[in-house]
Amino acid sequence: MKKIVIASIATLALVTAASAAVNGKACAACHGADWSKKAMGKSKNVAEMTHADIAAALKGYKAGTYGGPMKGIMKGQVARYSDADLEAFAQTIGK
Ligand code: HEC
Repeated sequence: MKKIVIASIATLALVTAASAAVNGKACAACHGADWSKKAMGKSKNVAEMTHADIAAALKGYKAGTYGGPMKGIMKGQVARYSDADLEAFAQTIGK
């Protein structure tokens, strides 16, 4: 029973992602369809990051408070989204 509840929550999260503003397909070119590619040889393996770390990274790129030498690229990817959209999207990727 517990497993079924967890599965339903996961499905709900996916459905929410589909209707959220963040277009995950735009990220796949650099991060890979399963998020395990090190984007441009520089990023972490996002598939291995936690939801919380991803949320902090995405909001940080937008605010200019997070990132390495290529953070400008990521700022361009996330600047148009609200923090709430980024937070919601982060819950759907990573672990
Ligand atoms: C043009 C290539 C490119 C695209 C498209 C792109 N990224 Fe990135 N991403 C990068 C690079 C390069 C980094 C590492 C930047 C740095 O130096 O901090 C990165 C870093 C990240 C990180 C943090 C990983 C770390 O190293 O701390 C997350 C999370 C992330 N991207 C998510 C996304 C999401 C979500 C999208 C789509 C909305 C996206 N990226 C689109 C290239 C890209």
